[in-house]
Amino acid sequence: MILESVVTTRSEDGSAHIAPLGLHVDGAHLIIAPFRPSKTLENLQREGHAVVNWTTDVRLFAGPVTGRRDWPVIALDHFPGYRLEAAQTHAELKVIEIEEDAQRPKFHCAITREETHSPFRGFIRAQAAVVEAAILVTRLHMLPKEKIESELGYLQIAIDKTAGPIEQEAWSWIMVRIDTWRKER
Ligand SMILES: Cc1cc2nc3c(=O)[nH]c(=O)nc-3n(C[C@H](O)[C@H](O)[C@H](O)COP(=O)(O)O)c2cc1C
Repeated sequence: MILESVVTTRSEDGSAHIAPLGLHVDGAHLIIAPFRPSKTLENLQREGHAVVNWTTDVRLFAGPVTGRRDWPVIALDHFPGYRLEAAQTHAELKVIEIEEDAQRPKFHCAITREETHSPFRGFIRAQAAVVEAAILVTRLHMLPKEKIESELGYLQIAIDKTAGPIEQEAWSWIMVRIDTWRKER
């Protein structure tokens, strides 16, 4: 099982680095598997800690993959890192094992603390559509044009039927990126 999450790590200069990542669930542990090269990977290797943020604010998924990495974070008192202000729940992670790999090392993490900040009020289909489209944005260079266009066409239906302002804003950022990609081809 993979949980779509937003991971915050601490960079060398002490600032927060934000990246949407799918975390693999392994019993009580979570596995972060960043493809090289990755700033998250460098930070995990150096710091040995990360914070996983779970949020239904899908701008946190569409934003980082369209160049918007500057999101409000809160420094944690008792942990060397930051959580997103938009996190409904955050969990503090300690790296307990690294499975080295030339392409995609796996960081096995234990959850040392978890805290919930705001309630969950149900799914919006458009949220899932934005998350799927954000993944497509990261794969524009490797997927056939027809596949991207047909998937976007399908996802657009959920946006048109169910999106609120947050999902519409996130979708608009993705569409600007897609328009650029269309012109580049
Ligand atoms: C929903 C979602 C899930 C993602 N999961 C992964 C992942 O598991 N591994 C990965 O390397 N990149 C993943 N990405 C892409 C990263 O967010 C993106 O490449 C990011 O820039 C990570 O690189 P960085 O650590 O240098 O910021 C995902 C993107 C999205 C939108």
